[in-house]
Amino acid sequence: MVKNGDTLDLGNGHMLEFVNAPNLHWPDTIFSYDRKTQVLFTCDAFGLHYCSDATYDEDLEKIAPDFRFYYECLMAPNARSVLSAMKRMDALGQVATIATGHGPLLRHNVEELTGRYRRWSQEKSKSETTVGIFYTSDYGYSDRLSQALGRGVTKTGVNVEMVDMRLAEAAEVQELVSRAQALLVGMPPSSGAKGAQAALSLILAAVDSKQAIGLFESYGGDDEPIDPLATKFQDLELKILFDPVRIKDTPSEATYQLLDETGTDLGQALNQAKKIKKIKALDADLQKALGRISSGLYIITAKKSDIKGAMLASWVSQASFKPLGFTVAVAKDRAIESLMQVGDRFVLNVLEENNYGDLMKHFLKRFPPGADRFQGVRTRPAENGSPILADALAYLECEVASRMEMSDHWLVYCVVEDGKVSDPEGMTAVHHRKVGNYY
Ligand SMILES: Cc1cc2nc3c(=O)[nH]c(=O)nc-3n(C[C@H](O)[C@H](O)[C@H](O)COP(=O)(O)O)c2cc1C
Repeated sequence: MVKNGDTLDLGNGHMLEFVNAPNLHWPDTIFSYDRKTQVLFTCDAFGLHYCSDATYDEDLEKIAPDFRFYYECLMAPNARSVLSAMKRMDALGQVATIATGHGPLLRHNVEELTGRYRRWSQEKSKSETTVGIFYTSDYGYSDRLSQALGRGVTKTGVNVEMVDMRLAEAAEVQELVSRAQALLVGMPPSSGAKGAQAALSLILAAVDSKQAIGLFESYGGDDEPIDPLATKFQDLELKILFDPVRIKDTPSEATYQLLDETGTDLGQALNQAKKIKKIKALDADLQKALGRISSGLYIITAKKSDIKGAMLASWVSQASFKPLGFTVAVAKDRAIESLMQVGDRFVLNVLEENNYGDLMKHFLKRFPPGADRFQGVRTRPAENGSPILADALAYLECEVASRMEMSDHWLVYCVVEDGKVSDPEGMTAVHHRKVGNYY
């Protein structure tokens, strides 16, 4: 057993030094540093789910989107822990190579890529709103379910901190409960996990009625029952954020999408008050002038394994001839954002003048998390599997080629692979706006 600061002599001048990096995906993550070779072994941190023949990170442009996506899914829900671990890492001195557990080893861009982790984590932990997620890392599906929930929340810019109930110190639980605006609890096992039960009692004792709560099952086979706990929180007059998420079958991609969208909804609700203030602060003339930028109306539709998504979009613009490509600006907290990563395929449906009202109304509905957005809409599958809307004027099958970060939106550049127009005489629906601070 080793702890922070311990060393282990492997001989031949290789002395491993251990650095605690808790919560960097796992509560017990530890970095190991070999001073002789200046290699830092980081487990999941700085990794990416990317496989090629390259052992090292020589092609930064190729790996950058996956490096970012991996960070968003696994590290962003623990941005403060990332910063603490990096502080300890800095104290080690020169790191020539980062040997991560996933994807290429980092050698050519160590400074650049660690710099990105630092920048993103500083950005995330700046938020005044914090959501605490309590889970049990080695029980049922608690880990992946809470990661999906955490990713959904962080998409809205709200800070997330995840705590393993089984291993957390009492002070750590109390501190997070006292600071967080909302608490999300994954049901721990009902027996044999004393630490988790103790943490649950601490949460119940420390919450106050100004806080909000959300509960979800872990699908571990022996989950603490959800209803009695929900009642206890209700008795303490906490605001219930969403109906407890009950998981009846082995979690699938659709379950993770449900948790992701639940997280986004709740982050948006926590942000609401702040947003209204911000919008009011814009100069009225500027708003009107910007509102004169107009565009067409489109529905983006996407399907990836067993999950589907759709969104009304107007910030769409052709961007290249060779290859044929266009951009679409997608707000960071859109549900469909998860389906528009580099390499993902989707369909851009072009709406028709005088025939767009019903589709626009349908897709602007507020869909509950995990809802089937295509119910009652006539579609057929495109070559790439995404739904084509039968009532669209034209459609384009596309692949996401790159993404550029623009404060509150992702500017997604897409290459067009195929397309058809149903009526060559038909005209695109045009969208005129009054003000520039909404679509
Ligand atoms: C006329 C109009 C145009 C819109 N264009 C865009 C757009 O280009 N990009 C975007 O991210 N959202 C756009 N939206 C907002 C989304 O369509 C809508 O809020 C979204 O579907 C709801 O969020 P959700 O899908 O994440 O639940 C537009 C909304 C309207 C009313």
